[in-house]
Amino acid sequence: MNQKHLLTLHDWSTEDITETLTVADKLKKELKAGIKHPILAGKTLGMIFSKSSTRTRVSFQTGIYQLGGQGIFLSSNDIQLGRGESIYDTANVLSRYVDGIMIRTFKQSDVEDLAKYGTVPVINGLTDLVHPCQVLADMQTVAEKKGKLEGLKLAYIGDGNNMAHSYLYGCAKLGMDVSIATPVGYECNAEVVENAKNDARATGSNVVVTYDPVEAISNADVVCTDTWCSMGQEAEKEEKIKHFSGYQVNTELFSKAKEDAIFLHCLPAYRGYEVTEEIIDGPHSVIFDEAENRLHAQKAVMALLMAD
Ligand code: CP
Ligand code: NVA
Repeated sequence: MNQKHLLTLHDWSTEDITETLTVADKLKKELKAGIKHPILAGKTLGMIFSKSSTRTRVSFQTGIYQLGGQGIFLSSNDIQLGRGESIYDTANVLSRYVDGIMIRTFKQSDVEDLAKYGTVPVINGLTDLVHPCQVLADMQTVAEKKGKLEGLKLAYIGDGNNMAHSYLYGCAKLGMDVSIATPVGYECNAEVVENAKNDARATGSNVVVTYDPVEAISNADVVCTDTWCSMGQEAEKEEKIKHFSGYQVNTELFSKAKEDAIFLHCLPAYRGYEVTEEIIDGPHSVIFDEAENRLHAQKAVMALLMAD
């Protein structure tokens, strides 16, 4: 692994991502076989959260413990960062105590600054821009279910948000075709689309952004969606629900994907909005394997970035 941090998947090479997925698979098999892997014995991960979390918090804390280390949950409500202490000072101080920092926050630039000013690896646990750990777990899940990644088509229907951006980056790096359908006004970040298109040229995959959910989902091997109302957008909820009505992943829309398509959702999900019960709780859904793989994929990230 030729990386110090995980800030976005765009920063990583195809080889960095595939190495992580290979290690994730190995750690998963070892865990299931009862084989211990104390790769990070004695190490500490600081986990800064400026937003809520179930999966990220529990999987990182459990993951670092399984690797022989410990995690410290740092809610921004409780640490001085939340009272206005600078990222610069926080990065410098935490670097004197811990061996790695995971951060979930709003601005991508805060994560970049933490990496710039600190001396320890920084792992992005979600920003408004991207959610790279989630897409590593998603790719591990797709590879398990489909036996490969390259050449598959992934469709994402919904908000042009951090998940959409991370699918763009992940798929482009891994040679998967990716089609994103969003309503007008909720498009993906133009720079992210451009970056993904450039990456896709190198891996021979195809990036499509459209307003047409049927076009996006047609012939897809993997169908994804996410909440229409991300953390921090609570005030826009009613407005967004109106604009997203044609973008629900339901039985009719899903029928346009391949017959053996799988359904992914990073969770938390809001049944009856972005996805119907028939789909998320139906035979194509692999959401709990996907959630489980957060543990294994993030252990791989920590092992690769934080080991001596
Ligand atoms: N998918 C995900 O990141 O879940 P949490 O918000 O519960 O961490
Ligand atoms: N897009 C969602 C993902 C939650 C894991 C959010 O940012 O709230």
